Amino acid sequence: MDNLALWYRRFGEPESVLQPEAGPPGELMPGNLRVRMLFSPINASDLIPITGAYRHRTPLPAVAGYEGVGIVTQAPASFAHLSGCRVLPLRGQGTWQHVVDCPAEYAIPVPEHIDSHLAARAYINPLAAQMMLTRYSPQNKQVLLTAAGSDCALLLGQWALQAGAEAVYGIHRSPIHAERLAAAGIIPLAQHDTQAVRVVAARADVVYDATGGALAETILSVMPVQGTFVCYGLLSGQIFRQRQALPRVEWFHIRNYLDALNVEAWQDEFCHIWPKLCASQYSDVTVYPLAEWKAALNAYRQTGRCSKPVLSMDI
Ligand SMILES: NC(=O)c1ccc[n+]([C@@H]2O[C@H](COP(=O)([O-])OP(=O)(O)OC[C@H]3O[C@@H](n4cnc5c(N)ncnc54)[C@H](OP(=O)(O)O)[C@@H]3O)[C@@H](O)[C@H]2O)c1
Repeated sequence: MDNLALWYRRFGEPESVLQPEAGPPGELMPGNLRVRMLFSPINASDLIPITGAYRHRTPLPAVAGYEGVGIVTQAPASFAHLSGCRVLPLRGQGTWQHVVDCPAEYAIPVPEHIDSHLAARAYINPLAAQMMLTRYSPQNKQVLLTAAGSDCALLLGQWALQAGAEAVYGIHRSPIHAERLAAAGIIPLAQHDTQAVRVVAARADVVYDATGGALAETILSVMPVQGTFVCYGLLSGQIFRQRQALPRVEWFHIRNYLDALNVEAWQDEFCHIWPKLCASQYSDVTVYPLAEWKAALNAYRQTGRCSKPVLSMDI
């Protein structure tokens, strides 16, 4: 059966450079699993490389998508126990396609009780949140999040509280996020209320920022000098200038830590993620067939969205 995949052969706006292409899957490489995909989400982390932001380390042509869940259809003898099981086929090919090949040892088996819509989103945002909290501890600290309505910030906030944060504040752009932030124990702050943002930022010990731009500059201008400002995204599309040497600014990117994880450490990260993810509030999903990928991208770009567009490869 032909494989349908969303390829990009040049960098640019995803809507203009992504192309569905059908063709037979290539030969399965030794040591790899072949996985029939079920679901794959649309995240900022999937779209940014398509624009060419990381062009020096994005070889073209490429299939888009970094995460998702599927069922193993072919496995090497030493991984035969995974045949027919659900896995996250990570660190292999792009996931926005019907068939994905991935290194067997890095595939993450999905526990039976985990719903596939949740499993499809168990990598980029949960692992980033978990790694940031390990590296920049929130314990006994006043924590401030930006883009707090995002999946990543929602997990950061809840897991920071579990890790002993004194209080977690979440700056949100669209008002719709306030209620669910409060329900998750995160104190909502409207982004347009600059005065309130400045008051909270002035006593923040650690900031996890995904917006950059003017908001980052406002926060940095009032933060305590002994604080830590962790930048992990630039959703505003604007970089920011740091006018003083302190507070310390740290740039976090998950890819900088992956090479240092051996197979055991990589699998172990997910042993910690599964129970925490099950016990956390996360956004709902809206499912689109792969053929309707443009509608899914359009939904992704809606402001005030409370559900994550997910591509379904099954329908
Ligand atoms: N560095 C890493 O390793 C790493 C790993 C994972 C994720 N990330 C980053 O984490 C961020 C969130 O990703 P996600 O998948 O969790 O996002 P998401 O669930 O798709 O949500 C995006 C959120 O960002 C908000 N937003 C978008 N543009 C904004 C702006 N200019 N100012 C303020 N808020 C804005 C949206 O608010 P509205 O509802 O108001 O539209 C929405 O709540 C992205 O920047 C991504 O690159 C980084």
